[in-house]
Amino acid sequence: MNTLILKIEEGEKYNISKAAEILKLGGLVAFPTETVYGLGADGFNKEASKKIYAAKGRPSDNPLILHIADWEQIDKIASHVSKEADKVMKAFWPGPLTVILNKKKEVPYETTGGLDTVAIRMPSHPVARRLLHESQVCVAAPSANISGRPSPTTAKYVIEDMDGKIDMIIDGGSVGLGLESTIVDFTSDVPTILRPGFITLEMLKELIPNVVLDKALTAQGRVEHIKAKAPGMKYKHYAPKADLCLIKGEESQVVKKINELAKEKEEEGYRVGIIGTEENIPEYTFGLVKNIGKRGEINSIAANLYRILREFDDSDVQYIYSEAFEEEELGQAIMNRLKKAAGYQMIRV
Ligand code: TXA
Ligand code: MG
Repeated sequence: MNTLILKIEEGEKYNISKAAEILKLGGLVAFPTETVYGLGADGFNKEASKKIYAAKGRPSDNPLILHIADWEQIDKIASHVSKEADKVMKAFWPGPLTVILNKKKEVPYETTGGLDTVAIRMPSHPVARRLLHESQVCVAAPSANISGRPSPTTAKYVIEDMDGKIDMIIDGGSVGLGLESTIVDFTSDVPTILRPGFITLEMLKELIPNVVLDKALTAQGRVEHIKAKAPGMKYKHYAPKADLCLIKGEESQVVKKINELAKEKEEEGYRVGIIGTEENIPEYTFGLVKNIGKRGEINSIAANLYRILREFDDSDVQYIYSEAFEEEELGQAIMNRLKKAAGYQMIRV
């Protein structure tokens, strides 16, 4: 398949009608959102949904998020919106938040992975909003990566994974946030965060004080016996080609430990990578060192994480040591992705 690439330059007028047309006809279009790039298709069209699974190599019981631009579209998808869900949606939409609600019967099981619940999100990225609004399609869109790779934060990575497999890629430059949306389940007794993101536990608590983190998130890797509520969480998550280990503790001790470990491995003949914060970069004396952003600007760390993991996969390093972060506010989402990538390997100093 020949994949069309539509490049959108900032500040210039652009025409998105071809992309909207492809979606209406059941085709696949990758597009930027404020979190990561999505791989979109008409979520009410079974055959279109199936194409998403095929392009990504994704297991068919892992459900998709339906993306909307207009509030009226919720009525087509959800059978009921609780007061709590409504409050949170009004506060954070459009934005990086996904809610799980009970679905209407018209939403195909091909889109929800066989579940009676459905994930819905209203993204804020202007290109995504325009595409959704113009097509008037409820767009099922997972992240636009091959299953098991980090979510793409620029069109370059979408092209790497999807060129030749989908109808169109809209190149809208780098995304702003860099981590997938927060997912909150409103179908159980208490609202439950299934995936942490930019809308943090702390922010949600201000509106719905009873919100909790899913047990699978607090189990520190011992998840075998805890049933994951987001089906995506039970699959082997992205793991870098190299062996990744996180180092947590007082900052100067962390730097010292990473240098010790890196030196040791290099002496054994291995190639080593380091993920460090900008403040500490000059301290690292071994290996291929990557700057993940300023510790004082946690947003920059979220924005750089997936790019750095992809860059290390393209290098020949065999071991990676990374600084760890506090698991509060946005640090919760960053550490959630880092810990999964590390297979929960962490050294405390
Ligand atoms: O930021 C995002 O959410 C991005 C952009 C493209 O919008 N999308 C994204 O989709 O991250 P995906 O498919 O990579 O992740 C969706 C997650 C999966 O872990 C899936 O299992 C979970 O949402 N999910 C979807 N529907 C669900 C449902 N009904 N119940 C529980 N979990 C659900
Ligand atoms: Mg994904």
